[in-house]
Amino acid sequence: MLVSTSFLSSNNIPKDLQKLDETKTDYIHIDVMDGKFVNNKTMPFIEMSKIYKYTSKRLDVHLMCEDTSKYIKDYAKLNAEFITIHVESNNVKENLELIRDYHIKSGIALNPETKVRDIIPYLPLVDLILVMSVEPGKGGQEFIKETENKIKEIKILLKEYKLNKIISVDGGINNETRKYVKECDMVVSGSYIINSNDFEEQIDSLR
Ligand code: DX5
Ligand code: ZN
Repeated sequence: MLVSTSFLSSNNIPKDLQKLDETKTDYIHIDVMDGKFVNNKTMPFIEMSKIYKYTSKRLDVHLMCEDTSKYIKDYAKLNAEFITIHVESNNVKENLELIRDYHIKSGIALNPETKVRDIIPYLPLVDLILVMSVEPGKGGQEFIKETENKIKEIKILLKEYKLNKIISVDGGINNETRKYVKECDMVVSGSYIINSNDFEEQIDSLR
């Protein structure tokens, strides 16, 4: 199981990123919020780009934004491994193509109430499917248990279409809820790791 650590709940980003650099987390998950797609808004890119100084990890960028092209152009500069946009955002096809034009792996995220069938038209354009197991917008929320069925549904769909995609799940992941997401390839976890004293131990418990 790959682990991508979200620092959304961090009160001291430079310190926590330096600590995470000492761990075996596979990726640093960057949550970007525009104040429109979700109510919260993250710091501007110019500020966010400074985090690059504190980490040698590969970046997994999650855009919770309505219009993503501007953000894609910015975050592509950080040499991200993945950039994920939401199926509920605007001009999905064009923006997935834009991500791929930068030779970055593309992801499609779906909100808890969004149907799996909604991502079908975009499957040829994505490397990763990000299943939201909480409402997007903030860290520290409770895992939505129906996510387990949604992951199964996605697995069946991929088999039917003979496609191989990374399935990632984001929100409320901890050592209790991980049992519901065993079929995924990757988990995104924030507060469970960041609010602990031993990052490595928490990361290990998720694998
Ligand atoms: C939710 C974000 C998640 C979140 C994960 O809107 O996309 O990445 O920060 O944090 P936890 O693990 O605390 O739910
Ligand atoms: Zn996220």
